[in-house]
Amino acid sequence: MSKISRLEKTLFRLQAQHACLAYAFGEIAARPGPVVELGLGLGRTFSHLRHHLPEREIYVFDRANGAYADCQPDPALLFLGEVDETLPALHDRLAGKVVLANADLGSFDREQNRRVAAMCARVLPPVMAPGGIVMSDLPLEMAGFAPLPLPPGARDGSYHLYRRQP
Ligand SMILES: C[S@@+](CC[C@H](N)C(=O)[O-])C[C@H]1O[C@@H](n2cnc3c(N)ncnc32)[C@H](O)[C@@H]1O
Repeated sequence: MSKISRLEKTLFRLQAQHACLAYAFGEIAARPGPVVELGLGLGRTFSHLRHHLPEREIYVFDRANGAYADCQPDPALLFLGEVDETLPALHDRLAGKVVLANADLGSFDREQNRRVAAMCARVLPPVMAPGGIVMSDLPLEMAGFAPLPLPPGARDGSYHLYRRQP
């Protein structure tokens, strides 16, 4: 049995997302460039991104659009399908430009999470700008990226932060 309950795991993930997003907003404030949201889900983190980054292009990815009615992305920036196909398909538009990516693709299936983390670590680096921030619910092994300490309010291991080295 896991040391923490599912409720706590979800609670800690949401707290960490909130803290990491606040940190990332400060980090990218002076850096122009698009933002990527991997895992629209119900649209909660997308809604937070849009609220705090109203001028940014936010590219959103998921298999299907299950977001709340008030959390709907711009249809022109919503890409439905498998991320390992939809994100690389935008290479010409995004390569080396993304200043913030939030990957929230994990589930409670450990094996699936291993596959998803490996996929993210493959498809995210080509689109990231030098100095760009990657936030992820799963740990990612990405060459050329330095792990960052989590900001106050985020428990160790509940989220993961990386910066692309210049
Ligand atoms: C935890 S939910 C995202 C929650 C969302 N960020 C929110 O705040 O409401 C994970 C989402 O990732 C999507 N997903 C997982 N793996 C995917 C993949 N390989 N390609 C596309 N979507 C994927 C699922 O469909 C699901 O909607």
